[in-house]
Amino acid sequence: MISHTIFKDRGHTWLAFGQDPQKPEKIIDTNQIVITSGDQAIVLDPGGLEIFPPMLAALTDRVPIENIKHLFMSHQDPDIGSSLPLWRQVCNADMQIHLSWLWTSFVAHFDSEANLLPIPDEGSTINLGGILLELIPAHYLHSSGNFSVYDSAARALWTGDIGAALMPAANRTSFYVEDFDSHVKFMEGFHKRWMGSTRARDAWINRVSKLDIDILTPQHGLFFKGEDVARFLDWFGALEVGSGIEAMGAGDTPTLPRTASPASTVSAALPVEDEPEIDAQRIPDPVAAPAQAPTPPATEPKPAKKIAANEKEAPVLPEYDESVGGYVFPDS
Ligand SMILES: [Fe+2]
Ligand SMILES: [Fe+2]
Repeated sequence: MISHTIFKDRGHTWLAFGQDPQKPEKIIDTNQIVITSGDQAIVLDPGGLEIFPPMLAALTDRVPIENIKHLFMSHQDPDIGSSLPLWRQVCNADMQIHLSWLWTSFVAHFDSEANLLPIPDEGSTINLGGILLELIPAHYLHSSGNFSVYDSAARALWTGDIGAALMPAANRTSFYVEDFDSHVKFMEGFHKRWMGSTRARDAWINRVSKLDIDILTPQHGLFFKGEDVARFLDWFGALEVGSGIEAMGAGDTPTLPRTASPASTVSAALPVEDEPEIDAQRIPDPVAAPAQAPTPPATEPKPAKKIAANEKEAPVLPEYDESVGGYVFPDS
């Protein structure tokens, strides 16, 4: 695994680890960051258990293992922190592990004895040897409990999956984006599919665009520096996200009259912004006029597909799609 110094000012450093040439092809490539301040260090998104051995070897070449005082997990994913129990075996017993309060009992499935410190929704700070790290809410981007890390002294922002690019190893010739326009194709599919909330995206951009950022570092792909930071924020701010919703058939569902439909059907048929206001005057008194059960709309029953007793349906297997970083079904 390669290590690279992003920032250095006396004992305050940002070290990036990743792009391991030995990494099996199936495992999505991840960047890990270690921030040091004097004799204290924190690992941001330490990675999956498959990459733990090369990551540990690369890290201990640069930082004494006893200096690791904190682990930070931006969210719950296996590529973020399934290595947690292995880190606890080699680090100090009093190491603090920071992640959203939302995920503590879930991540405990990786390691029920870990000392997990819950980050409240509004964020918090970590004092690393006098350097204050700001944990900035990034909920729903893509995880429901999710944080970025800002270091004002280094003018550096760790963004987890925001800014991620899924790209062939041959295109990772350095740790930095060299040509933003040609880099977009590696980010586009990922952000459209994995980011689901325009409101969350806008709130996060509004927050981080007020910060002084020289370098923006995502967990996958390459880092943005200088003017590419603003270019990325502008690009992300204009992107239509939530592409997976199309696969839910939202466009195929007929719009049904609200009064004649079961609630579950109505909520699927009406877009949120079209939801009519409830007129309290028109709600019938349940005593004077008992509510009648709504009549479900008449639908044509679909004929059951006939399969001969000795015939099995051929399974449709998903295929790996690098552009979305996962397995997809051929017709999706
Ligand atoms: Fe993730
Ligand atoms: Fe990730």
